Amino acid sequence: MRKKIIAGNWKMNKDIHETVSLVNEIKDRLNGLSKNNVDVIICPPFTSLVIASGLIKGSTIKLGAQNMYHKDDGAYTGEISARMLKSIGCEYVILGHSERRQYFSETNEFINLKVKQAILYNLIPIICVGETLEGRESKVTKNIIETQIKGVLSGLTQEQINKIIIAYEPVWAIGTGKNATPEQANEVHQFIRKIISRLYSWDTAERLTIQYGGSVNPQNAYDLLSQSDIDGALVGGACLKADSFINIIGAATQCYVK
Ligand code: 13P
Repeated sequence: MRKKIIAGNWKMNKDIHETVSLVNEIKDRLNGLSKNNVDVIICPPFTSLVIASGLIKGSTIKLGAQNMYHKDDGAYTGEISARMLKSIGCEYVILGHSERRQYFSETNEFINLKVKQAILYNLIPIICVGETLEGRESKVTKNIIETQIKGVLSGLTQEQINKIIIAYEPVWAIGTGKNATPEQANEVHQFIRKIISRLYSWDTAERLTIQYGGSVNPQNAYDLLSQSDIDGALVGGACLKADSFINIIGAATQCYVK
């Protein structure tokens, strides 16, 4: 039985004061919600992680970072290690987001190194894959997804594969207000599960959490999340306001849980 997981990717938003307000508001609003079947993760920017970590203590909210470097420590100016994230209470880290691929030239091979390092430090990587508009229009979505999945998971053992989350985020749906239809998204999620079953086993594929990301909002969340293979959401814009984030979590609690 897969649990729904709703994660908020704050991206480069919220200073430390705004972080305090938002986390407190999410915490308060979550108290009134029955969320047995849903895990909630917030991923603020690096500068807000420590304060957020303190604020969520004693609550059910979990903490994630938006990126990390794959080395233990050393002369890598501007970078943050898995051990550092772990030491402040992070349990998750988003890796390979399309914005990192697009603006910071991250490749599947580079993301693969980070994935392995995250797992080594008991951080659960939320690994993003997704096609561009051009890819979808040229009908090569599945080729792109398969190449990304094989690349980012290269060399991972059966045991390691049980410690990851995949997020399917079609690039054309991110920040555009244009979400994939529930059927479009579910089809790709099923395809991802098929690849995993070929690479590992059907049992492993069945257990894997696959989130959808791309213009998820309170209006479309239920329809997306009630699909057979959509196990949660990676939310961008709509996680920056407690109201919309809570309503998406609420939609997840309403879904049939497999
Ligand atoms: P939006 O929800 O703003 O489209 O962003 C999605 C995303 O990139 C989450 O990682």
